[in-house]
Amino acid sequence: MKTLQITPSISQLRRQLTPWREGGARIALVPTMGALHNGHLSLVRHANLLAQRVVVSIFVNPTQFAPHEDFAAYPRTLKPDCDKLSDTGAVDLVFSPSPEEMYPPGFATGLTMGGPARGLESDFRPHFFGGVATVVAKLLIAVMPDIAIFGEKDYQQLLVVRQLTRDLGLPTEIVGAPIVRESDGLALSSRNVYLNSGERLIAGKLNRVLAEACQRLREGEAVTAVETDSANALRLAGFDTIDYITVRDAHTLAPLNQLERPARILAAATVGKTRLIDNMEI
Ligand code: PAJ
Repeated sequence: MKTLQITPSISQLRRQLTPWREGGARIALVPTMGALHNGHLSLVRHANLLAQRVVVSIFVNPTQFAPHEDFAAYPRTLKPDCDKLSDTGAVDLVFSPSPEEMYPPGFATGLTMGGPARGLESDFRPHFFGGVATVVAKLLIAVMPDIAIFGEKDYQQLLVVRQLTRDLGLPTEIVGAPIVRESDGLALSSRNVYLNSGERLIAGKLNRVLAEACQRLREGEAVTAVETDSANALRLAGFDTIDYITVRDAHTLAPLNQLERPARILAAATVGKTRLIDNMEI
């Protein structure tokens, strides 16, 4: 069992990490935007198996939200989040900075990403990976962890973070962790709280459509036919907008016309005002 400490400042964070690092402890970082659920907590438990010291960051990062998105409405629940983290007994330190701590007045630096950041989410949220890359780079530089854990729930984000870590020569190993789901298969997400009961039923169909697509692809059906049928199945299930449902190379996210492994099917669709993403290994 560990006792949780909380700090809002980068310099204090560094002061706390120094003796741990000098003592030879392996340090893990789990970056989050808070509103923690069991998906986040599974990353924290995973981190605790791989490292002696676990740092969780909680920061709703303004630069990854577009002006029309839900930055202001995004749930901020620091106290219950810290209670949940404390209950796991797996966390040593919560880093919970203010926007000014991460982006001091006059902040003028940002990362631009190509490679796995191209397409998919970037076609619908062009600002998104620039903001994610900038904040994740800042967090990795502040903590300099041995490992950092990211969920496969945000599969493109995981590949983007791997790419930026390699490109910037950061000494952190990026570890991917499996998606945690509700009993009907809906991937846990902080944004699921936006769903009303009717929308919640529709939301649960996204993973079913993905699973059926995987099954058909494994049986040898053509990629384009499965993609088209899956988009139609989402429409029939009640989704309002289907941004994409597409089969991609699992390492590069390049489109695949024929199934070649490792492959992944990725989808984004909205129900009501809520945008959901999910993906599965084929
Ligand atoms: P957030 O959405 O809070 O997610 C934090 C981490 O939890 C991410 O690595 C995400 O993939 C993982 N996660 C979310 N839902 C999950 C689930 N159902 N199962 C497993 N893992 C899950 O992703 C972000 O925050 C931000 O973009 C961040 C990386 C913190 C940068 O601001």
